[in-house]
Amino acid sequence: MDKAEQMTDKRPDHAIDIVKYSSYINDEAIVKSLRLPRVTREDWPTTPAGWSPGDEWPTLDDWDHNEVLFIRTHQAFEVWFAQITHELASVVSDFSQTWLNNTASELPRVDLADRGGSEQLLDSEGFELSKRAVAEAKENYPGLTSAFDGLLRPGCRGISRDLDQIVGFRGSYGESDEFDYKLVGYTRRIQRASKALLCTLEFFEVLATMTTEEFLRFRGRLQPSSGFGSTQFREIELLAGLRELTEPKLRPVNGAECEYDGMLKPTPETPFHQHGTSLYNALTPWGCERVAKRFGQNSLRDVVYTLLNALYKAGAAGEKGAPDMRHAAVDQFVAMNIGEVLKEHFRFAGEAAKEPTAAGNLSGRLHQLAASLANIETLSAAFTEMMKDTERISQFLAACLEFDSALLQWRDRHIRFVESMIGTRRGTGGGGIAYLKQTVAAEKAMCFTHAFPCLWEARTFVQKGIYR
Ligand code: HEM
Repeated sequence: MDKAEQMTDKRPDHAIDIVKYSSYINDEAIVKSLRLPRVTREDWPTTPAGWSPGDEWPTLDDWDHNEVLFIRTHQAFEVWFAQITHELASVVSDFSQTWLNNTASELPRVDLADRGGSEQLLDSEGFELSKRAVAEAKENYPGLTSAFDGLLRPGCRGISRDLDQIVGFRGSYGESDEFDYKLVGYTRRIQRASKALLCTLEFFEVLATMTTEEFLRFRGRLQPSSGFGSTQFREIELLAGLRELTEPKLRPVNGAECEYDGMLKPTPETPFHQHGTSLYNALTPWGCERVAKRFGQNSLRDVVYTLLNALYKAGAAGEKGAPDMRHAAVDQFVAMNIGEVLKEHFRFAGEAAKEPTAAGNLSGRLHQLAASLANIETLSAAFTEMMKDTERISQFLAACLEFDSALLQWRDRHIRFVESMIGTRRGTGGGGIAYLKQTVAAEKAMCFTHAFPCLWEARTFVQKGIYR
């Protein structure tokens, strides 16, 4: 063996003889985990409630042919879910470590549900162009004046608690090739996670070859379990950052402390509907352990939001390498967007748009704009996208948005699949279609359905030709 060969062959000498495909790939364990039928008819359990991993399946005679497909399909999903958690977790933990090394503090935990409180209004300071755009519109359309009341000041909400660390972090990585190099790697891993998730959509096509009648033959045996109890799916949600969505399932109202740190188990005082969605009830001890732990850890949302706050702090100070987010630039940008909303409003509604009755619609649009742009991260994401020097960060953010989109596509496909399989029957876990639709409901606050609301919001505001 020459030197080059020795360097690429990492195996110890004796392993050359003993490593076999099966011992490396672990296919034996995978195939055995399908629990091929070996026991006699008498041993067939009427309900698999007492089954444990590795238990044997019932005999072939009693075996429902389609149940093999059903279980194998779920197992295939779980294999890919494992890969997706692997990719996401590696990005989150590497970034958290980089953050810790640079700031000597933990990566902030972003809490979007509790945002607000110390909000300032657009009138409060500066933003002359934006205020002028509002004043002109009020003058031109007196009937619509109320639509302009109470607009929030852009950039008044963000991760203020950890401001010092954010500025420090930006300072230390600002000009760093090493960080840019890391970002490229993170981007690839997130893209891989999206593709892996999207490729599982095809699995539903295979499972859809089973008819409803065929499914009903063995469906009773699953009760009361369902995909709701997929530990890894919960981990993916948490790794992405959907904490608000998970919290009521993990910590039901009036729940009691339990053996898993951070998780609560339902009590008689817990509202009835929350018993059905309790992860303590739905998961095995292995699952409870893992999900409770993930809930306490950082997520990709924390990474994205922290990065965007860091960029904003740098941009607002006019630092090189960050988008120009000094006061005047943000003011101009917001004024452009107010102008765009007005233009759209009048273009589509014509003369009727000037009527006082149209004030409600316009007010809704303007308040949506102001509420989104009040978030530092939304402003920052929009500016980053408009500037060419922040290409690597833009690509990383685009990959995160793609992942969010992949997760929503997964939910949509599952919902359609479930509808086509069982219609509006209750699910085996008790929630059914009505529950599933809540997980994509447009009327919910975006932080429940989207891991990175700011990235989606930013797309509404990006303007052409500011930087390029
Ligand atoms: C015949 C096939 C299937 C049916 C009828 C079905 C039905 C349902 C229903 C009704 C729910 C809501 C909870 C409940 O009421 O039980 C649910 C949740 C879920 N299912 Fe399925 N499902 C099927 C296949 C799958 C497959 C193949 C997977 C892949 C892992 C899966 C993953 C999930 C997940 C992750 C949830 C929780 C979603 C959430 O809480 O947001 N399901 N399923």
